[in-house]
Amino acid sequence: MIGIGAGDPDHLTFQAAKAIAAADVFLLVDKGEAKHDLAGLRHDLIAQHGRRPYRIVEARDPERDRTAAAYTEAVEDWRSRRARIYRSFIEDELKDGQTGAFLVWGDPGVYDSTLAALDEVDAEFECEVIPGISSVSALTARHRVGLTQVGRPVHITTGRRLAAEGATADDVVVMLDAHCSFAEAGDGFRIYWGAYLGTPDEILIEGPVGEVADEIRAVRAEARARKGWIMDTYLLRREPPARG
Ligand SMILES: C[S@@+](CC[C@H](N)C(=O)[O-])C[C@H]1O[C@@H](n2cnc3c(N)ncnc32)[C@H](O)[C@@H]1O
Repeated sequence: MIGIGAGDPDHLTFQAAKAIAAADVFLLVDKGEAKHDLAGLRHDLIAQHGRRPYRIVEARDPERDRTAAAYTEAVEDWRSRRARIYRSFIEDELKDGQTGAFLVWGDPGVYDSTLAALDEVDAEFECEVIPGISSVSALTARHRVGLTQVGRPVHITTGRRLAAEGATADDVVVMLDAHCSFAEAGDGFRIYWGAYLGTPDEILIEGPVGEVADEIRAVRAEARARKGWIMDTYLLRREPPARG
């Protein structure tokens, strides 16, 4: 399992490039039309770093019930169907001694179900995980801020949870937020927002939530309509109390 970074081909580490060069067969899971430029990056990385002869096997991502009120159950069901795809890849596409590779967006350890789905696969195989540059690292680097403040914790969560629970720490990283939940939860926070990080379409906006929330909403809606998809991430950092 190879973390490929969050969108910039140069995010790929030397370790990841070597792992791509060592793979015999790649499994690419297509998430549908809307995300084709993401699939394009995977093909480009294989073309650039793969060593022929290699094969690419493409599979269609199982549909997930995004309307389900029971979000966790819907994800678990989707993960089991993914596990079946992985199992048939391992059993049907790999000969003995061959190495298969999954190219995982960002870092495989951050909000990605590939590891958990592989855990469900009932087949004999060894698995190595190559870390990748996560969108969280890309976000803070592009804004030139630290993820952590001296001796302080950081909370990483989803837009859904932020909307339900509010900001439960002074530093909160939010991913998978389709609804700009910062606008309600972000009072008293500064936001460091980034979309399409690492790509030519990258957009960065920073400022007190109260001042930039409307701008982010508008920019996000316009970009999403224009491209047909969006991935955005942000850090909420509580503003220090005014002195005096
Ligand atoms: C399923 S998670 C995968 C995260 C990935 N494993 C990582 O390490 O970044 C997808 C979410 O990651 C964030 N994300 C991934 N790539 C991004 C990018 N290039 N720019 C902004 N956000 C990104 C978004 O919040 C998106 O909804």
